[in-house]
Parts: sequence; C-alpha cells; structure tokens
Amino acid sequence: MTRRDRVNGVRRLRGAGRVLAAVAWLALGGCTHQGGHVSSREGEPPAIDRVDWGRSVFRFETFRNEWFWSDTLGLAEGLARREVTPNALLAAGLQLDSDKLPSDFRRSDVGIGPYTDPRATRRLIEANAVIGLVARQDRIGVTCVLCHSRADDRFGDGVGRRVDGLPNTRLRVGTLIAWGERSRSYVPFLNLFGLGRGPQVDPAVSAFDGAEALEGAVDAALLSWPPGQADATPDGVGNPTDIPAIWNLTDVGPYDWDGMFAHVGDAHNYFFGVVLDPTTLATPGGRSFLSGVPPPMGDWLGGAYGAVLQAIDPAMERPRVAADRVGGLPFLRSSPRLGFRVNGEDLDALSAYLARVLPPRRDSIDEERVAAGRRVFRQAGCNDCHLESRETTGMIVPIRDLLPGYDPQRIDLVTVPGGSLLDDPRTGYDDRVMAMNAAWRGGEVGYKVPQLVGIGLTAPYLHDGSVSTLEALLSPDRGAFSPHPFYIRHPDERADIEAFLAAWDGRTYP
Ligand code: HEC
Ligand code: HEC
Repeated sequence: MTRRDRVNGVRRLRGAGRVLAAVAWLALGGCTHQGGHVSSREGEPPAIDRVDWGRSVFRFETFRNEWFWSDTLGLAEGLARREVTPNALLAAGLQLDSDKLPSDFRRSDVGIGPYTDPRATRRLIEANAVIGLVARQDRIGVTCVLCHSRADDRFGDGVGRRVDGLPNTRLRVGTLIAWGERSRSYVPFLNLFGLGRGPQVDPAVSAFDGAEALEGAVDAALLSWPPGQADATPDGVGNPTDIPAIWNLTDVGPYDWDGMFAHVGDAHNYFFGVVLDPTTLATPGGRSFLSGVPPPMGDWLGGAYGAVLQAIDPAMERPRVAADRVGGLPFLRSSPRLGFRVNGEDLDALSAYLARVLPPRRDSIDEERVAAGRRVFRQAGCNDCHLESRETTGMIVPIRDLLPGYDPQRIDLVTVPGGSLLDDPRTGYDDRVMAMNAAWRGGEVGYKVPQLVGIGLTAPYLHDGSVSTLEALLSPDRGAFSPHPFYIRHPDERADIEAFLAAWDGRTYP
C-alpha cells in the first residue's frame, strides 16, 4: 500500500485481488452484493476492480476530511459530550449496516440493550457500521453514503443491508452537524443574507456577543433543515434541497438540481472538496470559486467565513482535505473552478461505480397497467422533457416555464452593502438558484430535467421536496400557479402513470 492508501484507509484491489473479485463477480451472477447491477456496455468486459474500488471510495473515502469534521467542527467531541446513543443516531435518521454490526448488537433487538449505551456509539463507528461516518484514529470523518445510501430495514427501521444510491430521506443532516462543538464552521451554507429558508444567521454576531451566540444561531438554523435535505451550496442563501438519487449516473448530466456542473467528476470533486470540507472556501482557490456568487457577496462571504475559522484556530492548516491545488485558464473550463482536486484516479473509479448502481429490482409488475401508463405519459407530453430512456435530454428548464406567473425582482441586501439578488418573494421555488446556478458555466438559470429511474422510491418530489407523492405531483388539485404544473386530470390515469414509473428500475424499463 502506498502512503495515501494507508492515510485514506481504502484498500484497492490489485493483482490477486483482481482475480478474486472476478471470481466473486461470476459467482454472484454479475450482480454486486448490495443490489447494484453490473452491466457491460458495448460488449466490454466489466472493469470489476475499478467498480469495487469506486464502491469503496463512495462508502469509505474521506480524503482526510476527518480533520475538518473532528478538529475544526468538533463532531467526535460533540458525540461524546452529548452522550449520543445508537438510538439517537437512528432517531436522527443515520443508518446502520447490519453486516458490520458488532456481536452484542447482532444478539439484541433494535432499540434496546447496546442501542441505549452512549459508549457503544464509538464502537459502532469504529466497526464501519454507521453508514457515512468513518473512524480514523481519534477522529471521525464523513463519506458520500451519509446522504446517498440507506439501509434496507431488514432488522428494524434504519438497520439492514446497504442500498447505495437510495437517498436517505430520513436523515436530519442538520442535527448531525449541530452535534458538533463548533458547528459554526459550517456557516457558509446557511441563510446569511436573509432571503432563504430557515432563521437568518449573522456571522459577525460573534464579534459582539462571543462565539457562543454564533454557535447557538448556527445550531438553530441547522436544526431547521427538513429530513432528507441538505444545503450543498455555500451561497449565503438558506436553500436546503432534497438529496437526489444517485443511480445510473452516466449520460444524465448536467449535475445538481440546477445543472451547475457539466461533468460528473467535477460534481464529485465538489462534494469532497467543499461540502465535506468547506475550509477550502477560505483559501485563495476557494475565493475564486466564490466569485460565482454575484459580487460583492462572494467576497463578503469568503471574508466572514475566514474570520470565523480564524477565531476557531488561528494556526489551522487550510484546506483540511487532502487535495491538489489546480490552476488553469478559467475560460477553458466548463465547470466552476474550485482550485482543488482530490485524487483523479479515485474520482474516475467512483464514476465507474456510480454509473452502474441501479435501484433495487421490482418484482411484481402489472404489464397491462404499465402499458396503459406509458400511453398516458406520451399523451400528456411528459416525454417532451423526460425521455423514456436511461439518458436525459440534459435540458435545463427556465423557472418561468416551470412556475406560471414567476416574476423575480431585484432585492437589495441589508447585510452586504451593494449586494442584490433576483428573487420572487411570493415563492421559495427559486431559492436554489438565487445566487449559484448553471449561468456560471454559460447555462440557463432553472432546474434540469431529472432522470426518473427509481422515482417510485424517492418521495418527496421536486428539488425542494415540496410535493409529497407522485399522485399529488400529477393532480390538478395543486392548482394552476404551482411549480411543474403538468397534470393528469383523471385519477385512474394518474394511477396508470404511477404504475408505469414504479417499473423504471433501469433494467427492463424505461
Ligand atoms: C450532506 C449530504 C450529502 C453528502 C454527504 C453528499 N451529498 Fe451529494 N448531494 C446532496 C444534495 C443535497 C444534492 C443536491 C444539491 C443541489 O443541487 O442543490 C447532492 C447532489 C449530488 C450529485 C448530483 C446528482 C445529479 O443527478 O444531479 C452528485 C453527483 C453527488 N451529490 C455526489 C456526491 C458525492 C460523490 C459525495 C461524496 C463525496 C456526496 N455527493 C456527498 C447531499 C449530499
Ligand atoms: C417542460 C418540461 C417538463 C415536462 C413537460 C414535464 N416535466 Fe417533470 N420535471 C421537469 C423538471 C425541470 C423537473 C425538476 C423540477 C424541480 O426539481 O423543481 C421535473 C420533475 C419531475 C418529477 C420529480 C423528480 C424528482 O426527483 O423529484 C417527476 C416525477 C416528473 N417530473 C414527472 C413528470 C411527468 C409524469 C410529466 C408528464 C405529466 C412531466 N414530468 C412533465 C420538467 C418537465
């Protein structure tokens, strides 16, 4: 193993490992053990070692972000001081991998015995049983699967085998972050300008009232994030969005709800380099990334965040994540510049894995219903935007075409003199794209057409989770002035479309 391998704790398959993996693959009939389907495109043999490696990156790779989550944000300390029990983890929506549970947990029913012991939390994390939290010596780091995987519940709610790609719609990400002793180090993602959702936070409050005042305000804002949502954009607008499904991640770009990233590798790099370690933002490279927030707000944000980090630890090495500095000419890039890149081979392996992950198979399919649903889907013009295929049009639909009567106004900000944003104060539907969006790379401002593979499993719907069921999404009861007003009048026809979409598991359908 190289030094980097040891640091990251990711074991890569080389030589003999490759042979073993190929044998295991054959024995499993071409399926990976967590329900992800390995398909071979254009007759190429599946690169099984890279897929395994990518799975391991997705589940366990931190690129050293434990330095952010533990030393800076204080998550390990917070879990210990607050005596967070395994039951409390489950209540916050964290998921437990039943294959990795220590033996006392295996012997116990869910919710009793070791589940009530705060000292057992650490043991669970060290056993890699808490999906998305990993122990590295005394520290705890966070991985992609915290949000992008769930347990299949075979032993109880939140306890079972991993289902990669299924969004964790139960997770209270904000609660987890607020458990940190210094959750104020996550401040760039909150409502700093007073225009988004959730309580407004003024990062300067600590200068007058001390760090405790800022910590309290940040925790209150984090606790207001709804389950299944996180704010993944450091734009000073409080705009948590639904965690999307990560299935069939090939030919379905652009990425993020607003299509901010053209290339999937850039999106992955962003999640490692900003969402899982925002200290990058308070570096010169990160400042160039924040230039995507309209001036002067990006500068203000970078400065205010730098001051918060400085007060936490003046000697802090930034960024905390292990990433290379990247330069290059801005006009040659198709995505926002982050100034840092984590290991490229790991990103490629991750993409290879995520291109192959599909939702669990559907067993009973009523073919007649599905055929009727397909007819309604076509008649209603759904496929003007959503393709009956595993690809997407790659189209970003402007908000005015998704929300009838949308009328944005320029709003001056009190917080940042000279700053202003476009917003229609009558709706929160545009919060996600108020400051950061695909315009950055020359794209439209709006929402991209999402792929519908596995859509029956990922309620609630739309980027802000504002519609709770497929039936509600398609019912004219939502009214003519609601987002995505593409309705099916007859209830039977709505049920047909639902049956059709429920069959989309990326294999037989679409
Ligand atoms: C804290 C929860 C959380 C974690 C952890 C997380 N993500 Fe996400 N992810 C999200 C949210 C929320 C979005 C939607 C962001 C938006 O568009 O507003 C998203 C979107 C994405 C997308 C775009 C999907 C699409 O179809 O457009 C990709 C790709 C992605 N994440 C990959 C990753 C990777 C790789 C990691 C690990 C490095 C990761 N995510 C970690 C919450 C998370
Ligand atoms: C004009 C293009 C367009 C048409 C027509 C259209 N959609 Fe959509 N659809 C979108 C966009 C864009 C989104 C994402 C909106 C958002 O996230 O706020 C979306 C979202 C959805 C979602 C939710 C996806 C998710 O992950 O939350 C479903 C389900 C859906 N559409 C089904 C349909 C059906 C069924 C029809 C036909 C009745 C239809 N759409 C017609 C563009 C369209």
